[in-house]
Amino acid sequence: MTRPPTGMSVRMSVSQAVDSRVSARAFLDRPVPRAFVEDILRRAARAPSGGNLQPWVARLVEGEEIAALKTRMRARIAELPDGEPMAHGFYPPALKPAYLARRQRNGEILYGALGIDRHDPVARKAWIDENFQFFGAPVGVLLFVERNSTPYQWIDLGIYLQTVLLLLCEAGLDACPQADWAMYAATVTAFLDAPPDLMLICGIAIGHADPNRPENFIRTERDDPLASFAIS
Ligand SMILES: Cc1cc2nc3c(=O)[nH]c(=O)nc-3n(C[C@H](O)[C@H](O)[C@H](O)COP(=O)(O)O)c2cc1C
Repeated sequence: MTRPPTGMSVRMSVSQAVDSRVSARAFLDRPVPRAFVEDILRRAARAPSGGNLQPWVARLVEGEEIAALKTRMRARIAELPDGEPMAHGFYPPALKPAYLARRQRNGEILYGALGIDRHDPVARKAWIDENFQFFGAPVGVLLFVERNSTPYQWIDLGIYLQTVLLLLCEAGLDACPQADWAMYAATVTAFLDAPPDLMLICGIAIGHADPNRPENFIRTERDDPLASFAIS
């Protein structure tokens, strides 16, 4: 499935959107109207949630605000390069070999496209820090849930996230979900003056993917979920 030209709203089937959505990690300096993304964030709330709690909280940043957040993040990373204490780790401490292999393969594909030696910690760190510039995207979204949520509300947030991503895809916009924002949850929470009951889970970089950047042409691999019942 070929992606529609960015910025052009193309009607596509759900199957086409699911198949063609990819994570974009380098964006053009091309504006995206705030109202356009707000409309998608509202429509995505048709996503199902347990008890219809709709526990997702979305905060959009663009214009001067996203510029200020990017500046704040540069300063914060300089102060604290490895991030802040996190409420939850990204991965279990001991990943089963099959998951570890998938993760390593993902890194190989991504860093291969970027031309970064996976064993070059300086180059890798510089690239990871681009997360906190939203990879140059003009619009960012920060997603929160209540701090006292159970894993079921996290499921709801994940369904909401994918619904947003598919609607963006249908609209010809590109995006990258970004859990890395949780590494600086305290800084982002303070910057946005977010209520203390809310916990930052991830961000989404949104814009028009740079068609000349190889990291935007990665087709990641998938295994058969039905065969994973006996994963080791
Ligand atoms: C919840 C979630 C968090 C993610 N966090 C990041 C991130 O912080 N930085 C990043 O570059 N990619 C991030 N990704 C993108 C994944 O690496 C990507 O979805 C995966 O490699 C599959 O590739 P695809 O999205 O192109 O299909 C995240 C994806 C999800 C669903």
